[in-house]
Amino acid sequence: MLLQVLGTAAGGGIPQWNCACPGCSGARAHPGRRRRHASLAVRADEGRWYLVNATPDIGDQIEAHPALHPGPGARQTPIAGVVLTDAELDHTLGIWRLREADGLEILATAPVREAVDGRLRLGPVLTPYTTLTWRELHGRGTQPLGPRASGPAGSGLRISAVPVSGKRPRYAADAPEDDTWVVALRLYDPATGRSALYAPAVATWSDTLHQAAAEADCVIVDGTFWDEEEPRRTGISSRTATGMGHLPIDGPNGTAGILATLPGRCLYTHLNNTNPLLDPAAPEHKRLARLGLEVADDGMVIEL
Ligand code: MLT
Ligand code: MN
Ligand code: ZN
Repeated sequence: MLLQVLGTAAGGGIPQWNCACPGCSGARAHPGRRRRHASLAVRADEGRWYLVNATPDIGDQIEAHPALHPGPGARQTPIAGVVLTDAELDHTLGIWRLREADGLEILATAPVREAVDGRLRLGPVLTPYTTLTWRELHGRGTQPLGPRASGPAGSGLRISAVPVSGKRPRYAADAPEDDTWVVALRLYDPATGRSALYAPAVATWSDTLHQAAAEADCVIVDGTFWDEEEPRRTGISSRTATGMGHLPIDGPNGTAGILATLPGRCLYTHLNNTNPLLDPAAPEHKRLARLGLEVADDGMVIEL
């Protein structure tokens, strides 16, 4: 299994266009600290990739990764589709930028599709440009990530959605409740028996999520905030980290203590611009390293 980390920032990116906080100013002064919006590319088959979430940075993210470049045909792209973990704007706005595609598959749970297709009108707006094919991600059971182009049937990468929370995007705050508004994605390679879990938005650490994380060889988890009070302390919100739908890394309800007990490789992603981890010299990096945990970086390649 091959995963390419296309971005590791929370909504707004780093730097965020209208923000002069230390994290964003630091990234303007030190371009190596820039982070694009959180996203992954997953290779389903030789030359066939799916993007996990489609961010406002999608054009630059594709250009930065030669495996995602078009060719050899003039309009031949290795990008087959997009898998959505949720319906948040930072994870969906990039789909509109793919309108030049001949066609695009979108894998999403039912409430996420309803939000993006219904409320944001993705389908009605893009129909004159391209053909969208929706595939439902179910909260249970695995399904093939992509139809296999070649090779023995049933040997391609498989995907399943692990329900994480019922957190709805602000634009769909009045939409019906459902436990698959936010899911983690489990990617499984039957050829090697290896699996990865991608969970960029974690509001609660359920038993189901724990089991999926404990079984995975690699776990990539929501690292939006370092601690529970960070959003209030930095003045970006009147809510706590958990109140904003993101378990913090540190502290009594933090994920670091949990991830440190897991057998697989664990990395954080979806860092907010308030997160002290944006500074490579921050002591928080040593704290994570002592627990055996990593921070994902843009451009990282994970081979399992
Ligand atoms: C989130 O991760 O909580 C959302 O992306 C926040 C937002 O953009 O409103
Ligand atoms: Mn987000
Ligand atoms: Zn900022």
